[in-house]
Amino acid sequence: MTVLLVTFLAALLCPSVHSGVSSVDWCYHKPACNFNTWSQIAPQFCNGSSQSPVNIVTTNVQGNPNLTSFNFTGFDDNSTFLSITNSGDSVVVNLDDEKMTVQGGDLPGLYNTKQFHLHWGNGSSSPGSEHTVDGKQYLMELHIVNVHSKYNGSVAAALAANDSTGLAVLGFFIEGTNEQNKTKSWDILTSFLTQISFSGNSTTDIMDQITMDGLLEGVNRTKYYRYQGSLTTPNCNEAVIWTVFKDTIKVSQDFINRFSTSTFFKAIPSVLTTNNFRGVQPLNGRVVTSQEVKPSSATTSTISIITVLLLSSLCWL
Ligand SMILES: *[C@@H]1O[C@H](CO)[C@@H](O)[C@H](O)[C@H]1NC(C)=O
Ligand SMILES: *[C@@H]1O[C@H](CO)[C@@H](O)[C@H](O)[C@H]1NC(C)=O
Ligand SMILES: *[C@@H]1O[C@H](CO)[C@@H](O)[C@H](O)[C@H]1NC(C)=O
Ligand SMILES: *[C@@H]1O[C@H](CO)[C@@H](O)[C@H](O)[C@H]1NC(C)=O
Ligand SMILES: *[C@@H]1O[C@H](CO)[C@@H](O)[C@H](O)[C@H]1NC(C)=O
Ligand SMILES: *[C@@H]1O[C@H](CO)[C@@H](O)[C@H](O)[C@H]1NC(C)=O
Ligand SMILES: *[C@@H]1O[C@H](CO)[C@@H](O)[C@H](O)[C@H]1NC(C)=O
Ligand SMILES: *[C@@H]1O[C@H](CO)[C@@H](O)[C@H](O)[C@H]1NC(C)=O
Ligand SMILES: *[C@@H]1O[C@H](CO)[C@@H](O)[C@H](O)[C@H]1NC(C)=O
Ligand SMILES: *[C@@H]1O[C@H](CO)[C@@H](O)[C@H](O)[C@H]1NC(C)=O
Ligand SMILES: [Zn+2]
Repeated sequence: MTVLLVTFLAALLCPSVHSGVSSVDWCYHKPACNFNTWSQIAPQFCNGSSQSPVNIVTTNVQGNPNLTSFNFTGFDDNSTFLSITNSGDSVVVNLDDEKMTVQGGDLPGLYNTKQFHLHWGNGSSSPGSEHTVDGKQYLMELHIVNVHSKYNGSVAAALAANDSTGLAVLGFFIEGTNEQNKTKSWDILTSFLTQISFSGNSTTDIMDQITMDGLLEGVNRTKYYRYQGSLTTPNCNEAVIWTVFKDTIKVSQDFINRFSTSTFFKAIPSVLTTNNFRGVQPLNGRVVTSQEVKPSSATTSTISIITVLLLSSLCWL
């Protein structure tokens, strides 16, 4: 009886993840069940040393000339959005991975684009990105999940292989704007949210007016951070080459508000999905790289001093 009651309560309090990726029940922000408990409930990977997300400290970012531009295929195709689903902890758009691929950008080969989903806080008042930059958390973060072509489109196969380059996730920060006319694609996307209020709800009758490119408008995709990390939900597999773009997507605050007012967590259908982000994890010696690195003020002043010294010594010749 007690066991049944505990199981029932656990099911009530802990929305669990989309099937196939995690075997444990987990939650985001409950007192006794939150992202700080993942390292105990799913210790194999969530307690690892290369976890995501991370705080990117821009003065510690190292330059890497190999981080060239990407080739995106099918990102301009308006027939690639297959369905939009309430996964119980996020909103997931399944993509046609036969039409959409990513390569270049120093990725080790071709990746098939499987889905994107989002992380958010609570409307435009409370931020909910997963990665942070110099401690700044953005309103939302979009993750495009890609799996190496050698796994034939199977994320589960990539995770089973324990391959640190099995997945390539592209992360985009989202900021608010008042210019509604610029974010038509986001208006269309978020207009489907009221149709998928509850976990498991899904609609396939979607979106031939939008493309991935439309949602990413305004982002220069040649400027990004790169590091080696993990899934940000249990089981937190350390299988992800992370790309976090520097430019932000600007989305109308009204559309951002739709996320935290339309969909409900799994197992607690009375609680709106809010704050579905994991807190930042320690780098543990990992290095974040980027195309170019702005010299820190310390470096700049050192160079200035050396220049002055050199110039002064020239004067003595
Ligand atoms: C997590 O890892 C740390 C250090 O590697 C270890 O001390 C701790 O016991 C681990 N915790 C769990 C729950 O496995
Ligand atoms: C760039 O790529 C070359 C060839 O793969 C490799 O030898 C080199 O270490 C890479 N540089 C960096 C900074 O990763
Ligand atoms: C990207 O596409 C261009 C033009 O189609 C091609 O020349 C280049 O080799 C491609 N790069 C990669 C890494 O696939
Ligand atoms: C989110 O914001 C709304 C309105 O500001 C508030 O009523 C609600 O309690 C907030 N939810 C959380 C989880 O903070
Ligand atoms: C992917 O498909 C190819 C050819 O269809 C097959 O040889 C290979 O074993 C498959 N790999 C996986 C991981 O399923
Ligand atoms: C996964 O790979 C890592 C290093 O690449 C290794 O330390 C770990 O033991 C592997 N885990 C399993 C379950 O094979
Ligand atoms: C969008 O609307 C704003 C005012 O809300 C206006 O200033 C701006 O020029 C418009 N942009 C375009 C591209 O129409
Ligand atoms: C959405 O999910 C709820 C709860 O599982 C279910 O009762 C409802 O029928 C679903 N709605 C649709 C349109 O599938
Ligand atoms: C989708 O793209 C096709 C081909 O570019 C175009 O003919 C069609 O009008 C587009 N559909 C919508 C609804 O924009
Ligand atoms: C993107 O950024 C690069 C590097 O700063 C720049 O050379 C390029 O012109 C930019 N592209 C666009 C479309 O703004
Ligand atoms: Zn994510």
